[in-house]
Amino acid sequence: MDSFENITDFIDSELRFQNETGLLRSLFPLEGSQRGVIKTNGKPLVDFSSNDYLGLADHPALIEGAKKAMEKWGMGARASRLMSGDLEIHHRLESAIAALKGKEASLLFGSGYLANTGIIPSLCGRNDVIYSDRLNHASIVDGILLSRARFYRFRHNDLNHLEDLLKNHRSRYRRALIVVESVYSMDGDQVPISELLELRGRYGAMLMIDEAHAIGVFGTKGEGIISQTGADAVDVILGTFGKALGGYGAFVAVSNRMKQFLLNRARTFIFSTALPPAVIGANLAAVKLLEEEPERRSRVCELASELRQALKEDLGLNTPSESQIVPVMVGDSQSALSLAESLWDAGFFVKAIRPPTVPEGTARIRLSVTANHSLKDVRQLLEALSNGL
Ligand SMILES: Cc1ncc(COP(=O)(O)O)c(C=O)c1O
Repeated sequence: MDSFENITDFIDSELRFQNETGLLRSLFPLEGSQRGVIKTNGKPLVDFSSNDYLGLADHPALIEGAKKAMEKWGMGARASRLMSGDLEIHHRLESAIAALKGKEASLLFGSGYLANTGIIPSLCGRNDVIYSDRLNHASIVDGILLSRARFYRFRHNDLNHLEDLLKNHRSRYRRALIVVESVYSMDGDQVPISELLELRGRYGAMLMIDEAHAIGVFGTKGEGIISQTGADAVDVILGTFGKALGGYGAFVAVSNRMKQFLLNRARTFIFSTALPPAVIGANLAAVKLLEEEPERRSRVCELASELRQALKEDLGLNTPSESQIVPVMVGDSQSALSLAESLWDAGFFVKAIRPPTVPEGTARIRLSVTANHSLKDVRQLLEALSNGL
């Protein structure tokens, strides 16, 4: 008995370690956030940390959509979709997403985390192999671990490395799945899609692409990156409503057959309560706004391009970004925390992103540009950055 570790000692030593290495996380309740300005301790801070890329989270159309749906359908969905929770409004949202993505069908999930952890184990099991980009999101990694398939991580966006791995191992396994993001959540760069489609065909692999950070921002209609280059060749396209679309939940855009398969196999779909009507009502309103207010999309892209260019040319900083997610690489966690603090003092809400969210030695400030920002905000942020570096 004496050799068993005491739970309090274990927790204390873990927390002490996190603290000493600059990795301790804590919650930070905000007093409010409106149109991209956060209030905390009575002080307004311009928010450069959110995923509300189109500034839809407090859009009146989303609030109205949520209210109307709640009044009509009630607060909760009451059960999973396969029990009595399947409402007409869920199907309406799925049709809107299928049309946006140019796929036959769509299936909703409770969140992006639930989608990734449900879908990947449905597609692959013990006799299969998964190839995953090294920078894929934690929910993809957890889906892979749940699948019990053999998996290989390839160097970020390095398709030569992916091909070497496919050459060496693919033939030993029954099914293969390649999984990537289209815009990477912490680096803001993009997947080399046409080369990937070519590889997928050559090695008989399934392809799954997580568009969590591309939906709403990229594409002529805000459909993301993949539809432009051939959604037909991608088996599963995943997107979330909690980022550019300002709401909550997630979807996959797939073939009719794949939808039928997933709703029979994905445990996070089968065994979880359907998304509540208010959330669906807001998500439907957001999808409609993609068409009605395209200027939000162009604004984000223009401001992000301005920020990327000024970081490189005026401040001499290198950023891998090709999107609205613009990381400023710092290196060690303590320096990233200090830079975040100096930006707070200058009136900007930013977060230091540290391991394990990003690889060791690559702590950074992750700046995200949204339609709530003005050119003046971006210029003032650049000035504060040059003072804080
Ligand atoms: C690439 C990616 N996929 C999935 C998710 C999870 O989505 P959700 O927040 O809806 O669970 C995230 C969240 O940050 C993400 O960045």
